[in-house]
Amino acid sequence: MTDNNTNKNKYSITRYPKTRNQSLKAWSAADEYLLTEFDSLNLEKPTIAIFNDRFGFLSCHLHPFSPTVILNYKSQEKAIFQNLESNDLKFSELNFITPLESLPEQLDLAILKIPKSMDLFRMQLFQLSKSLSENSIVLTSFMTKYFSPQMLSIANEFFEEVEQSKAWKKSRVLILKNRKQKKDISMLHSIEFQDFNYQQYFGVFSAKNIDYASQFFIQNLKLDESDQRILDLASGNGVLSKAVQLQNPSGEVHLMDDSLLAIESSKLNLNSENVFFHLSDSMEVFEDDFFDLVISNPPFHFEHETNIEVAIQLFSEVKRCLKDGGRFELVASQHLNFKTHLIKIFKEVNVISENNKFIIYECF
Ligand SMILES: C[S@@+](CC[C@H](N)C(=O)[O-])C[C@H]1O[C@@H](n2cnc3c(N)ncnc32)[C@H](O)[C@@H]1O
Repeated sequence: MTDNNTNKNKYSITRYPKTRNQSLKAWSAADEYLLTEFDSLNLEKPTIAIFNDRFGFLSCHLHPFSPTVILNYKSQEKAIFQNLESNDLKFSELNFITPLESLPEQLDLAILKIPKSMDLFRMQLFQLSKSLSENSIVLTSFMTKYFSPQMLSIANEFFEEVEQSKAWKKSRVLILKNRKQKKDISMLHSIEFQDFNYQQYFGVFSAKNIDYASQFFIQNLKLDESDQRILDLASGNGVLSKAVQLQNPSGEVHLMDDSLLAIESSKLNLNSENVFFHLSDSMEVFEDDFFDLVISNPPFHFEHETNIEVAIQLFSEVKRCLKDGGRFELVASQHLNFKTHLIKIFKEVNVISENNKFIIYECF
């Protein structure tokens, strides 16, 4: 295979948020391979949709075609905007939509880096199958170490032809053609927990059950009377906020998450006048000295990456947003050893409860 078309080094692409881990990159061979396959199609002025472009590698290189870019995360939006700007590309020439908005009609091509969540992949192919024309093509790619046979079975569910490329730099492309006419599928999971039926969109954290760390946290959650304004940081489907509401129905509850599908899921599960939803990857959206209590089951997995830098950055932002006398409670896996980081940020860090897997800290 030769690389003689789209110049894959044309733009300088960096990560947002920045990382000190040199092994984490802003794109992979799976992204480059998509561009190579795109070139070989030789399409004239195609209308394109791009999915799961985490930092903007694909959006920048395909910018001349004014693609529609589906944004799953606030941090993804910031990363793409940052990379477009630093490469002197106008973001007004791209069409940004959320994963729940309709795709443009008459797409010629969709370019999709396969996400870790097979449910999300299924939801994206379902959405595509509804708006592609018969001759449209979908290029999807993955690093071979992340291959799952489900990728093929899901692709076969929505497309008559599923062709697999040769491996290149440990990545592969699946070329999907001839979409099938599909009946509607549900894009929501239901999870029964403590007499409530939680709804969450495909791709949102912990699809099969309420996360065991969150369950342990809920068993040990005790609100004080002074806990009137509370933040559920990295709120997912809103299960921790629901537990807060049960103890203090008149309290003001804020939910913040980086994922649009998580925030939209939590809106299905919490519905009251005292609840506020924030699609954000950073606590910059809150004033100083704002909360009596912040609770969290913080993130440390991002697609196939494990990274605690984001959580540690959030912890230091929590400190700024806590009122005098306010506190931060979080649950985490024991192996993350968050205490070493928390004691550098907070004056006092105590253990509320722990078992062989999880630990709950209280920080002042
Ligand atoms: C471990 S899950 C917890 C979800 C939910 N609180 C629960 O207990 O089921 C972590 C959540 O953090 C979100 N997240 C990742 N990075 C974030 C960031 N920078 N700011 C806010 N939320 C983030 C993810 O989308 C995910 O929903």
